[in-house]
Amino acid sequence: MDQLSIGKVYNYASEENMKILPLWKQSISAIEIMGVKEELFSEEYSHYIVIHDALNIRFPESRDELNRRFCAQLGASVVRYIRKQGNVHYVRGLMAENGASIYSILPYTSFDLIENAKFPKNSMEERKIKAFEEIIPLLNGEKILDVGCGLGTLTIKIAAMKPDISVYGVDLQESLMKQCRFNAEIEGVGNIKFVAGSAYELPFEDAYFDVITCFFMLHHLDDVPKALKEIKRVLKPTGEVFVVEPIDHFHDIQRNPDDWKKLFIDAGYAVDVRKKHKLSYIKGFL
Ligand SMILES: C[S@@+](CC[C@H](N)C(=O)[O-])C[C@H]1O[C@@H](n2cnc3c(N)ncnc32)[C@H](O)[C@@H]1O
Repeated sequence: MDQLSIGKVYNYASEENMKILPLWKQSISAIEIMGVKEELFSEEYSHYIVIHDALNIRFPESRDELNRRFCAQLGASVVRYIRKQGNVHYVRGLMAENGASIYSILPYTSFDLIENAKFPKNSMEERKIKAFEEIIPLLNGEKILDVGCGLGTLTIKIAAMKPDISVYGVDLQESLMKQCRFNAEIEGVGNIKFVAGSAYELPFEDAYFDVITCFFMLHHLDDVPKALKEIKRVLKPTGEVFVVEPIDHFHDIQRNPDDWKKLFIDAGYAVDVRKKHKLSYIKGFL
């Protein structure tokens, strides 16, 4: 299909790192338009439908809508337009990997708005956004670390809302951290650093952070006590840890607020827990 290509994608997405993270839809990509004279994007529209190379990935059956949209013959993403720089356009939500070709770009117009359109409920996403909003005002301190930051969605929000503090994000893969840095740069957020590392061995000195957040992350770990001990090491004695975990989504072990409470107490924290919208909110301190 290369002869039909009208542009190329630039980001840090690869088959490997997209497999684990449908969270990529929060990320920013650059699209370079080539050999097309007319303006395909304009600031009149906030959203566009972009047709691009498909991902060579198979998501599990529970996420079959991703397979249908992004992993068949071609991929189709609805993206939010950010801005342009020459013939390069920045968009959020493109589910295509670095180097993918673009075949078509269509504004998402009032013609596309369908009255009473039905969508399968994505309550997890909604609950996560609400939880972000609840947690951010509680975070106070000069240095904040977000462990298991994924694509940096929460991390960048924290830094944008608190421009006078230093915010750090850590996650396993350097390629993810590159994408996080790109997201922050395009959003114009400067008070933030992304570092590759594991929750089991955080690349920071002892007692460095005032606040540490772990969002929808601890249930991914085989050894939660080890991570809690390591988080405690990099937390100041006056520091606080804010954790949000889904109750109805888990990998090996389902944990209720009381299970989290016990894990924190066993790791040497004082702890407050509460349950809201099928989420455990845990605040740990020393
Ligand atoms: C469900 S995602 C949540 C991402 C982000 N906190 C958010 O809410 O958007 C879980 C994240 O935990 C990360 N993760 C898993 N094991 C980890 C470890 N040992 N150390 C650091 N991050 C880890 C994964 O790579 C993934 O990005």
